Amino acid sequence: MRRPLIAGNWKLHKVCDEAVDFARELLDAVGSKTEVDVMVAPTFTSLFPVCQTLKSSPISVGAQDIFWESKGAWTGEISAEMIASTGATHVIIGHSERRQFFGETDETVNKKLKAALSCDLTPLVCIGETDEERSTGKTFDVLKGQIKGAFEGLSPDELAPVVLAYEPVWAIGTGNTATPEMVQEVHAFLRQFVAEFTQKDLANGMRILYGGSVKSGNIAELMALEDVDGALVGGASLEVESFKGIVRYN
Ligand code: PGA
Repeated sequence: MRRPLIAGNWKLHKVCDEAVDFARELLDAVGSKTEVDVMVAPTFTSLFPVCQTLKSSPISVGAQDIFWESKGAWTGEISAEMIASTGATHVIIGHSERRQFFGETDETVNKKLKAALSCDLTPLVCIGETDEERSTGKTFDVLKGQIKGAFEGLSPDELAPVVLAYEPVWAIGTGNTATPEMVQEVHAFLRQFVAEFTQKDLANGMRILYGGSVKSGNIAELMALEDVDGALVGGASLEVESFKGIVRYN
């Protein structure tokens, strides 16, 4: 049984005070017990105070990125150990905005994934095709390549905590959610491919989230799909009301 995860990616939004206030309001709104796992990913600068605010609550906290080295002369970078030391338990890796604007590759995703796992952070590995890749029939090859690249050199046991997030690039921040048919088709394919590439049990237990213009109005139909185990939410996670609606599927 895969317990669903609803994760909010705040991207470049909310200074410390806003992040802490939001975390408090969210906790009041979703209550001390949730039907699903809930995670929020503030900016690095708000990780510690948000973790303090959500300590002993059902809401987990994650970072939006990570660096693969543990220490050294790497100005501006943040290691897995540093993220874990804030109280954060999750980390988003390979988000399409990192791939598009900051030179993230399958190889760096792989290094980051290994770093996250070595510090017991739960990684949310993001994959997804662009508009052009979909229209030229490359979707499945692109996704296969991203999975192979990300999982390279890791055993099924090591991969057990991994959460996969399928986020078609053309659906992120555009209001163009993929249709339920498209989402189920891709998620079923991903589970099948992970089974072939690693192990069937691992694939059956792996949570595969959908991301890309998820909102309270479309979450229920997405969650009803057999291979959708939650959502990675950007824009609609920035307001308590809309995120609450997603966490409750209404
Ligand atoms: P969106 O972003 O919900 O605003 O489309 C999703 C994401 O980037 O994870």
